Amino acid sequence: MEKSIESVQSEGRSFAADPAFAARARVRSLAEYEALYARASQNPDEFWAERAGELAWERPWDAVCEGDFPPGPRWFVGGRLNATVSCLDRHLSTWRRNKAALIWEGEPGDARTLTYHELHREVCRAANALAALGVKTGDRVGIYLPMVPELAIAVLACARLGATHSVVFGGFSADALRDRMNDAGAVCVITADGGYRRGKVVPLKQAVDEALREKGGSPTVKKVLVVRRTGEAVAMSEGRDLWWHDLVARQSSSFAPVAVDSEHPLFILYTSGTTGKPKGVVHSTGGYLTHVAYSTQLVFDLRDEDTFFCTADIGWVTGHSYVIYGPLANGATTVMYEGAPDTPEPDRLWRIIDRLGVTVFYTAPTAIRAFMRWGDQWPARCSLASLRLLGTVGEPINPEAWMWYRRTIGKEHCPIVDTWWQTETGGILIAPLPGATPQKPGSCTRPLPGIHPEVVRRDGTPCVANEGGYLVVKRPWPSLLRTVWGDPARFEKSYFGEIKGVYFTGDGARCDGDGYFWVMGRVDDVINVAGHRLGTAEVESALVAHPWVAEAAVVGRPDELKGQALVAFVTLRGGRTPADGDAVMLAAHVVKEIGAIARPDEIRFSDALPKTRSGKIMRRLLKEIAACGHAEGDITTLEDLNVLAKLSMSSDEE
Ligand code: WTA
Repeated sequence: MEKSIESVQSEGRSFAADPAFAARARVRSLAEYEALYARASQNPDEFWAERAGELAWERPWDAVCEGDFPPGPRWFVGGRLNATVSCLDRHLSTWRRNKAALIWEGEPGDARTLTYHELHREVCRAANALAALGVKTGDRVGIYLPMVPELAIAVLACARLGATHSVVFGGFSADALRDRMNDAGAVCVITADGGYRRGKVVPLKQAVDEALREKGGSPTVKKVLVVRRTGEAVAMSEGRDLWWHDLVARQSSSFAPVAVDSEHPLFILYTSGTTGKPKGVVHSTGGYLTHVAYSTQLVFDLRDEDTFFCTADIGWVTGHSYVIYGPLANGATTVMYEGAPDTPEPDRLWRIIDRLGVTVFYTAPTAIRAFMRWGDQWPARCSLASLRLLGTVGEPINPEAWMWYRRTIGKEHCPIVDTWWQTETGGILIAPLPGATPQKPGSCTRPLPGIHPEVVRRDGTPCVANEGGYLVVKRPWPSLLRTVWGDPARFEKSYFGEIKGVYFTGDGARCDGDGYFWVMGRVDDVINVAGHRLGTAEVESALVAHPWVAEAAVVGRPDELKGQALVAFVTLRGGRTPADGDAVMLAAHVVKEIGAIARPDEIRFSDALPKTRSGKIMRRLLKEIAACGHAEGDITTLEDLNVLAKLSMSSDEE
């Protein structure tokens, strides 16, 4: 992938902002962007106060920013607000009252549109229902739902009440759900009888039952609220489980928003780190919402006529920030689609774009590569004429996919915003401003005003142009995670322990002579598989939890479609010889422990793993073997050369 980035760059391809687009954009030229950037750098407090001032506050802040990292400053100190007032209430006194806030389409083809007025009423009802279940401000609520309107409603109902939501992606297993609920100490879980995915029903309620019943269950969870989506029969436990349609429908449609402190945790979202245990990334209310509202406005150049379609599931941070909070805080129309992009046929998303008149479309490079593979005939059947802007997120985009996206979907006139950010950063940090920044395929271009990234060496000194190094952020911004839930030491160590005085992203990058960032991917043991973030250690601990497995090492190998594929090297206990079917069985075991997104693409058995003399597994060698069949680099610290010979041999045989 990297080679092609180089080749495109050396050709010097750069796409200036479309003049017709620029003429109407919020930021219309590179000079205007640079002026804004300079102003934000010179007077950050004033700049961020202006951004925060665009939200609705119940009490203004006393100080914009107090403290520095680590452990990170507090933002809008003393201010109080409720996120749903900015996202809903304040639009009700304007013409937007009857504007579509949420347009939803189910996989079977059913649809529902909620205006701001209607969404507000539903959120209030759901908040009353949660309160009736005993949920209080400060409690944690687990949400394990398919992409149905009730997911957005549930998220906002928690925020209305000042309860911290923790959404768990519906593709995670019962075991993964239990771990997250227990770590967060959730008092309640909101789920559904099922969700649709490629015509099949995903049995979410069954997974919740298993999570609450097996392996010690989740003792803090007292209530389960169940949305009826599929009509499948599900077990309802008396006194614990309640139907959403029973409870929510009979509640009052007004609920006074609970104003919380600016630093109050709006949500916890679990993401993969370098150990077997996922990190509960904690986001604040005031700082998070400020940056998410601002970045949505600037990067997507959002205007009132837009119909904004972000394809991410709300189970991931992209769904939190750019399906719910960012668009709604801007009074935009946001689109939510429940199912798979190829159901019933591979033109599903293009049909949605035509049917709804989508103007801004935001998806992942993995999806774009799948669209390319499915063939141009699918988008060709649709007009796509409503589109004016395209975006990507989640992994580096190879220039070929970028060019296809521009040509086939954007019809050569839509700018593409390649947006770099992370669960931890809350919102987009590096991306072109579509009316201002010339785009180079494969580069997320330049930082947003107020954001100060840099590529540095291990010792923290800055790299020169085009020298590869670590991507860090030098100055605080409002939507940085506040802590790792229940583990402040891990927070400090992961993000501030490696390189002093800056936020460490875990990504490798280089910055070219024009100040454009080229993100290469993770430098830690986190991999992006099909745009989903996984820790190799998580998959390893799932594997070694199986009684037959003695040791496991999991690495990523480049994959044309998914960006990275998962390869597991496994040694079995007591010299057991691997039998036919063992790999399939172990893969199923990982799916049970984590979920289908973590299913290894390949499992290789070996009687030993390459280790250093001090006993550390040499992952670099395994990566090379996974990618090209043999180890090419330095092997001088390897303990046992025979191991390498055997591993390389076993891969040559394939
Ligand atoms: C990667 C997703 C290159 C990066 C919002 C980061 C990207 C990780 C880009 C975060 C991009 C995200 N170009 N790489 N435009 N966007 N990444 O937490 O490695 O799921 O550290 O957040 O995705 O993944 P996460």
